Amino acid sequence: MTKRSIRQQMKQKRANVKDALSLACIQEKTLKILKNFNTIGLYVSFDDEINTYPLLTELLKLNKMIAVPKIINQEMKLYKLESMNDLEKGFYNIMEPKSMQEVIPECIVVPLLAFNSRKYRIGYGGGYYDRYLKDKKMVKIGMAYSFMNTEFTEDSYDVALDVIVTEK
Ligand SMILES: Nc1ncnc2c1ncn2[C@@H]1O[C@H](COP(=O)(O)OP(=O)(O)OP(=O)(O)O)[C@@H](O)[C@H]1O
Ligand SMILES: [Mg+2]
Repeated sequence: MTKRSIRQQMKQKRANVKDALSLACIQEKTLKILKNFNTIGLYVSFDDEINTYPLLTELLKLNKMIAVPKIINQEMKLYKLESMNDLEKGFYNIMEPKSMQEVIPECIVVPLLAFNSRKYRIGYGGGYYDRYLKDKKMVKIGMAYSFMNTEFTEDSYDVALDVIVTEK
């Protein structure tokens, strides 16, 4: 299957998820991993993405340094998030931090629609995460429902994740 058809299929499947237990499980397992780091990059969920708001809130409470994506001039970087009130609508109506303080965290949680057995991911197709992660040493973590596991051939510019957390 092509990345394109996998995106379509997974968006549909994800829209029909009614499994609150799996979601809670993924969030809990991810939080446990993230507590081992001091500076943490996390996407701010929108649409049907796995909800990161509980994680952001909890990690801020634990005084972790949190950085979230913002796109400026077509380029995505991570900027400091001091509080949940520091978010505003940005590119594609996704919430972005108001801060301009760039942070390069020790680890990053990235969104994904699908992943394969070699831990490569498929995102929305913009290549924003591929370009950002290209030369970064940070620990790369994906949160996913297990149904997002499917085979596809990654491209040369795709970047593999280190860990994929699912409900299983
Ligand atoms: N390192 C790179 N340098 C330049 N272009 C890149 C790079 N990585 C990816 N791209 C471009 O990004 C486009 C989208 O790539 P791909 O289909 O893998 O998106 P994706 O991984 O689903 O998106 P995202 O990374 O935003 O989640 C491709 O056309 C590719 O040429
Ligand atoms: Mg890619």
